[in-house]
Amino acid sequence: MKIHTYERLWLIGSMVLIVGFIVTITYGTVGLGITMIGDEEDALSPDDINDDERFAEPGVEQVGEDEFEAHVVAMTFIFQPDPIEIPANNEVTFYVTSRDVIHSFTVVGTNTNTMVIPGEVSTMTVEFDEPGEYGVVCNEYCGSGHHDMEGELIVHPEDEFALTELEVDAPDTVEPDDEFELAVTVENGLLEDLDTTLAAEIGDETFEEDVTVAGDETETVTIDVDAEELGEGEHDWSVTVDDETESGSVTVEEADDGGDES
Ligand code: CUA
Repeated sequence: MKIHTYERLWLIGSMVLIVGFIVTITYGTVGLGITMIGDEEDALSPDDINDDERFAEPGVEQVGEDEFEAHVVAMTFIFQPDPIEIPANNEVTFYVTSRDVIHSFTVVGTNTNTMVIPGEVSTMTVEFDEPGEYGVVCNEYCGSGHHDMEGELIVHPEDEFALTELEVDAPDTVEPDDEFELAVTVENGLLEDLDTTLAAEIGDETFEEDVTVAGDETETVTIDVDAEELGEGEHDWSVTVDDETESGSVTVEEADDGGDES
């Protein structure tokens, strides 16, 4: 059969286009990892966010040696947590959901970008090689504050990254002859042991103690304080572990010398 040269060219041209379309779509799904939201995660109604253990207190946690998960909630017109802090050179999977309307979670200057749809959980696994501070913006129009909706993503150098939390339980007022304590609870959110130093100051006195907190555990250190040595009045205290500091004050009440108070 004789095919005219032009007809042959058109045939070849359209074949090339068809194959081209298939290749681009396949590359987009497989090569770039572009997926539909809701493909991988179950639906999550905005009403259930507060009861969902991942999103009730959104944040970052370590799930494997070089693997982290970051749970983020978008709402008019903020991202929680803010800032989001992650280590460089580790795989971080973001799970993002919305409390109200459609937003986006877009890390400026990177290809980390997803729509955030109420009822759905968007997931993205990324690895940042460059430590630094990145802006997070919303690029889906979501209301009057849309242009102000921003957050921050801090990528820490891997060896400086910690998930340490500090809680101090201390009395507000004590009797002049009391012995009391500051109960310091250190939580280590990483899977590796945390070797660190706890430093505390109360009034003119300082304390220092080395603590080791096993991975994913908490450790409580108690600091004994003698109110008599502090003396009457208000005394500031502060406790520092890693880069976390908690502070407050304790008041040593006046000595009651026989009930002649007015
Ligand atoms: Cu949220 Cu625009």
